[in-house]
Amino acid sequence: MSDFETIIYEKKDGTGYVTLNRPEALNAYNIRMRDELYQVLAAVRDDPDVRVIIFKGAGDRAFCAGADLTEFLTAPSPVIARQVRWERDVWGRFLSIDKPIIAALHGYVLGDGVEIAACCDIRVASENVQFGTPEMGLGIITAAGGSQTVPRIISRAHALDILITGRWVKADEALRMKLVNKVVPREELLPAVEKIADTIKAYSPLAVSYAKQAVTRGLDLSLERGLELEANLSNLLSAS
Ligand code: COA
Repeated sequence: MSDFETIIYEKKDGTGYVTLNRPEALNAYNIRMRDELYQVLAAVRDDPDVRVIIFKGAGDRAFCAGADLTEFLTAPSPVIARQVRWERDVWGRFLSIDKPIIAALHGYVLGDGVEIAACCDIRVASENVQFGTPEMGLGIITAAGGSQTVPRIISRAHALDILITGRWVKADEALRMKLVNKVVPREELLPAVEKIADTIKAYSPLAVSYAKQAVTRGLDLSLERGLELEANLSNLLSAS
C-alpha cells in the first residue's frame, strides 16, 4: 500500500490514519483518490491490528474541497460512470467497517468532504472549519451518500437547509446542528481526536464493534427489530 498518490496511510499503536493528501488542490476528491480510498478502507477494515481509524486532510487549508472539478463530467458515458461507481463503491465500503472512524476536520469541508465526514462516526472540527455542499450550483445533487447520511446525523430540516441552499456553515453553527461533536482550536485538533481514539482503544474491540453495529445498523430498523439486534449482539458478546 505504499504506492498511494492521493492519500497517506499510516498505522500506529492500533490506530489507522488515513490522510487525504492533495493539499495543492485542497484535497479535492478525484478518481485516483476514490480508487485508493476503496483499497485502504478494505485494508483498515480487515486488519485486526487496526482498532480505530482517523481521517484527516493534509495541509493548512482544507479537509477536502469536494469533487475534483477538473474531472467534472469527464466520464466517457453515464453507463460507464455508473458501472465504475458500483465496482468502486467507496461509500458502501465505509458502511462495511464496524470499527470506529473519527474525522478530524479543518478548513474547507465541501461536497464529497462532507460526505466522507458523514461516513465517520465521530466528527471533531477545528475552529476554522467551513462546511458546504456546492452541488446545487453545479446542477447536480449530493450523490455520494450525503442525501441519506447527512439527515441521519442532523435533523431533516438542517440537512435540507445545507443540501438545497448550498449555504456554508461555520464551526459554531455546525456544533449547534450536531454536524460535529466538538470544536477545538486548530493546533488541538489531532490531539483531541487521538485522545478519543485512545479512550476507545482501551476497551474490548468486540464490545466496541458491537456497540457501533447496534447503533448504525439499528438506526435503519424498526424499534422492534432494533431491540432484537441489540439483544442478539449483547448475547453474542456475553457468549464470547
Ligand atoms: N477541484 C479541483 N481543484 C480544486 C478544487 C476542486 N474541488 N478546489 C480547489 N481546487 C484548487 C484550485 O483550483 C487551486 O488550484 P491552483 O492553485 O492550481 O489554481 C487550489 O485548489 C486552491 O484553491 P483556490 O480556489 O485558489 O483557493 P481559494 O481560497 O480562492 O478558494 C474555495 C477556496 C474552496 C472557495 C475554492 O477553491 C472553491 O470554490 N473550490 C471548489 C469547491 C467545489 O465546488 N467543490 C465541488 C463540490 S461538488
